[in-house]
Amino acid sequence: MERLQKFLAAAGIASRRKSEELIQQGRVKVNGRVVKTLGTKIDPDKDRIHIDGKLLETKEEPVYILLNKPKGYISTVRDTHGRKTVMDLIPKYMGRLYPVGRLDSQTTGLLLLTNDGELTYKLTHPKHEFSKTYLALVKGKITHEAVNQLEQGVPLEDGLTVPAKVNVLETKDGKSLVEITIHEGKNRQVRRMFQAVGFPVQSLKRTSFGFLNLKGVSPGKFRILTSHEINNLKKSV
Ligand code: URA
Repeated sequence: MERLQKFLAAAGIASRRKSEELIQQGRVKVNGRVVKTLGTKIDPDKDRIHIDGKLLETKEEPVYILLNKPKGYISTVRDTHGRKTVMDLIPKYMGRLYPVGRLDSQTTGLLLLTNDGELTYKLTHPKHEFSKTYLALVKGKITHEAVNQLEQGVPLEDGLTVPAKVNVLETKDGKSLVEITIHEGKNRQVRRMFQAVGFPVQSLKRTSFGFLNLKGVSPGKFRILTSHEINNLKKSV
């Protein structure tokens, strides 16, 4: 929480003195109500501030981060049950960022985070079919039939999946290590696809998102995307 006049001054609206005058003149609204009391506390993350009827936009620099998510973190900004979120892995000074899509708490690997809402929207829009590759360790010795079905489309309760690309890397000790590339983002999609063909997933890691991969980023760590990567992402959607 912050004092309103201090917030206005920091946002570059006017000096602290002038901001106080604006407030006293009844030109500032917080969540639709005129606020004339100096020292009123506001939450810049939540409260909507209008000055002379114009919504104040706090300009943020766009930030794009590639995180290697460890197990046990959920992909939301805040959790009401006190669970660990991916934001716990990012320093506060990076500001408010949002995950591009989601990874289940038990899924590890590549997760993009950004404050660029427009790019997030485009990257997660089904029409762009951004490819995502996962490494799945599944129970059982995977069969040709199962691979064929994954490649052709699996009927799930929310529809048929679009064809995936599947590569069986290893089968050993009653388990199979399978690489799968999908172009959609249905909820828990990979786990449900393997479950549907009879090979439940024991562990799952996202290894790439389009042309981006995890090279050089160890679990729990992140890196900032290069301007070249950001431009390529923007061009591809
Ligand atoms: N598919 C899943 O089942 N889980 C994930 O976290 C991502 C894709």
